[in-house]
Amino acid sequence: MKLQIRFIPFIALALLALLFALWAGLIRLGWAVPSIPNLALAHGPLMVCGFLGVLIPLERAVAIRQKWMFAVPLLSAFGWITLFFAPAIGAILFTLGSLGTLAILGVMVQREPHIHTITMAFGALAWVIGNILWVSGFPIFQIVFWWMSFLILTIGGERLELNRVLHPRPEQIRSFSIFAATLLAGAVLSTFTLTWGARLSGLAMLALSLWFLKNDLATRNIHHSNPLTRYIAICLFSGFIWLGISGVIHLYFGALYAGPFYDASVHAVFVGFVISMIFGHAPIIFPAILGVPVTFYRAFYVQLILLHLSLILRVTGDLTNLVTIRKWGGMLNEVAILLFLGMTIYSILKGKK
Ligand code: HEM
Repeated sequence: MKLQIRFIPFIALALLALLFALWAGLIRLGWAVPSIPNLALAHGPLMVCGFLGVLIPLERAVAIRQKWMFAVPLLSAFGWITLFFAPAIGAILFTLGSLGTLAILGVMVQREPHIHTITMAFGALAWVIGNILWVSGFPIFQIVFWWMSFLILTIGGERLELNRVLHPRPEQIRSFSIFAATLLAGAVLSTFTLTWGARLSGLAMLALSLWFLKNDLATRNIHHSNPLTRYIAICLFSGFIWLGISGVIHLYFGALYAGPFYDASVHAVFVGFVISMIFGHAPIIFPAILGVPVTFYRAFYVQLILLHLSLILRVTGDLTNLVTIRKWGGMLNEVAILLFLGMTIYSILKGKK
């Protein structure tokens, strides 16, 4: 296999956004680290729209290979760069990037009108709506349910695609569709009444978590004899559990605006679910984009175990208001992500030889 060097600049732009977002995360946690203008407030947008908003349309563009599609991740990349000196323009560029992602998904649905492409298209639509509300002045704590729906449905669609080998029954697809629609209904409701919107979203997250734990390939592969398949299954399985935990937190607390409970509610989804999924999908996605295999090492478990233990620490610190525990938990979350990046780059370079 030949390394596809031309896609590396896109990945570098996504990873740079991630690094800035991690830096901003430390400031938001209260660590005394130097800052630059607008950095702390940019943390959430950098993660969701900068890092993942570049990577997600890039993966689709590489799969379909129509030239215009490669402009879409670039819009999100310009968006995060602009965020530091002109935040309003950065948000508009993200909105254009999300519209472009929706257009790519439109092409995918046309080519393959199937439940997995439709789910991903609704995910992109949620991102567009969340961004439009954000640009029109809604605070992030309110539109965050749209961003959560974007990532949960995008990942959910990917899981449905990979689960096709199991030939899911119509009633399984029906229950998934009902839970996904409930998630979107929660985001709609949160725009008008945050408490009930948050609770409905929480209910949908819990239902989707149970659905995945019962029906996803991951549950079957957790004892697989192939070490990479087993590792991926464990990443996914643990991510589904965090999705359920996040559902319970949202159901219990309802509306949250800032502070430790808010931290627990958003990061159970964004770190527990989304980052676990990234750890698990990286050995599938990076070879697809870069054209080289990811060699599996048992050391991959170090980052995975650290991610979950540190998130348990962080959420415990959040829920019990123990600031130091929360700060260390958050910091170790970052160490786990950096370890993952280092291990993935090492394994790609090894695979290239
Ligand atoms: C891995 C380490 C991370 C750290 C240390 C971190 C830290 C923080 C902190 C301290 C807050 C503020 C919570 C509060 O108001 O008290 C926050 C908010 C937020 N984080 Fe993270 N975070 C991390 C990962 C992520 C990831 C992976 C995502 C998304 C994929 C994310 C998205 C967000 C969002 C959307 C908000 C809300 C922003 C706002 O209301 O302005 N975070 N984060």
